[in-house]
Amino acid sequence: MCGIIGYVGNRPALPILVEGLRRLEYRGYDSAGVALIDQENLCVTKSAGRLSALEQVLDHSMPQTTGIGHTRWATHGPPTDVNAHPHTDTSGKIAVIHNGIIENDRALRTYLQRQGVTFKSETDTEVLAQLIAMFYEGDLEKAVRKALREVSGTYGIGVLCADEPNVIVAARKGSPLIIGVGKGEHLLASDAAAILAHTTQVIYVGDGEIAHITPDELRLTTLDAIPVAKDVQQIEWSLEQIELAGYDHFMLKEIFEQPEVLENCLRGRLDQNENAIRLGGLVDCTKKLTGAKRIILTGCGTAWHAALVGEYLFEELVRIPTEVEYASEFRYRNPVIDEGTALIAVSQSGETADTHAALIEAKQRGALTLGAVNVVGSTIARETDAGVYLHVGPEIGVASTKAFTGQVAVLAMIACFLGRRKHLSPCAAAEFIAALAAIPKQIKRILDTAEEARKVAQIYTDRENWLYLGRGYNYPVALEGALKLKEISYIHAEGLPAAEMKHGPIALIQEGMPVVVIATAGRQYDKIINNMMQVRSRGGSIIAIATEGDREIAKQADHVLYVPDTIEPLQPLLTVIPLQLIAYHAAVIRGCNVDKPRNLAKSVTVE
Ligand code: M6R
Repeated sequence: MCGIIGYVGNRPALPILVEGLRRLEYRGYDSAGVALIDQENLCVTKSAGRLSALEQVLDHSMPQTTGIGHTRWATHGPPTDVNAHPHTDTSGKIAVIHNGIIENDRALRTYLQRQGVTFKSETDTEVLAQLIAMFYEGDLEKAVRKALREVSGTYGIGVLCADEPNVIVAARKGSPLIIGVGKGEHLLASDAAAILAHTTQVIYVGDGEIAHITPDELRLTTLDAIPVAKDVQQIEWSLEQIELAGYDHFMLKEIFEQPEVLENCLRGRLDQNENAIRLGGLVDCTKKLTGAKRIILTGCGTAWHAALVGEYLFEELVRIPTEVEYASEFRYRNPVIDEGTALIAVSQSGETADTHAALIEAKQRGALTLGAVNVVGSTIARETDAGVYLHVGPEIGVASTKAFTGQVAVLAMIACFLGRRKHLSPCAAAEFIAALAAIPKQIKRILDTAEEARKVAQIYTDRENWLYLGRGYNYPVALEGALKLKEISYIHAEGLPAAEMKHGPIALIQEGMPVVVIATAGRQYDKIINNMMQVRSRGGSIIAIATEGDREIAKQADHVLYVPDTIEPLQPLLTVIPLQLIAYHAAVIRGCNVDKPRNLAKSVTVE
């Protein structure tokens, strides 16, 4: 959730840290701070609020060449100057930035207080800074190692010590951390976006590893001081991909990128000559996966919605019993898992703490684990037995858009891949693959009419309660549409399987309440028209998402947004687009910060 950046080299560190923090701000944005070190002096500046508030109080001429920076998403204590990172020990010699949660911080705080330590902040991170200082006897790495042995919880940390001016010590357990390798310099970051402007060569710090970083040297060891050898890896993403490119917001850019990034996602994977799906990432586990008795799809938020679409796809195409689990519930439920279970973790970031924990739980109980992940080299991607990358490029907007369509496309390909090895006929596979190949251009057509969605948003943005209804494959899309609207515009919205409405939520419907109904052509079309009539007769205002050419629907709806025709299993890839646009425009019209909605952060790396 928090963003971490560090620099040790020969250039002034401050502009590099500030630029890195700007690129990390989507990870947490309630306060920010930097610590710079030079000639045995540690200079810490921090401020509550956005990065711009920190920039106003910084002395931008500071020449130091070693420093760390942090952008925070509060867990312990409100977003104040004092609770902002970096945190220092009482002497002001040690500074720490931290992403994660120290779970035994209360016990450690009490212990340190008994030793005479006085705390300035409410944070778990200050506890760590004081603990490192307590162990410090002239060797920062040793002190960090000793302190981390006392700590339980999760962390990605960067530590400076005034007595060791050209050194950053970093460590990781459960929170992402990478080291950028440059010429005569190293960078530390929680996210590749922070360092892409300087290098694409990185080393991924593993769980339980400590890095000792100087301008010219990088030494990795385990917590028990055993040396670790690591290869330098190349990041495939470019700087351009993480910039706005003329769009007002990353969310809008990412919505409009979908035709192109889905082409990338599908490229080389659809073989229309052989009616086959080619997924290199599944080659080694195909036999085991095909033989699975049960498939569990897990994720959080939007990824969980994509997993729900996956459930319908897998049951229809593969005919292996499939369940979808909230990752956060699954891990604490003593789930029944055995070697006949395959678990697919769905995640944009590959760093979501709950999804990662569910994956580890399943792995320990003997399941085959797979990932449908976007960020190459991320924790989930590295820890699954096999997987399929989304290849939709970096997603910066906190509201997930292109990752959803990427996740659904990947799950559709896995379903067809497995289906062909089970009961799916070449003819049915051919139809499915042709429909999938057509999706990017069909999304482009919807985006060409984006103004229609804006007009609808304009009419209803003053309403505080919305309902979203869908059936079958479009039920998860209803959930996703409601999540998009509430997370960025703060309008209360609920998504429902349309038939459930009459079992209670129908009581909410009153004159003028916006009800978005996904009513595309398909097996349940007549039933959803009935649901629309039930809404209408109670005064609700219907915004229908319908298939091009459906002239009848306009009679039952106040507004119709059309999408091109496709096969039912792939409709979510199209029906979600107008819902993303409605949410975006509603948030803009209400003056909300679309890319940095309140209380949220991209990539939820704490439980
Ligand atoms: O990185 P992940 O896909 O694992 O993230 C999962 C959720 O935190 C994420 O989808 C979240 O719900 C988004 N804010 C939704 O727009």
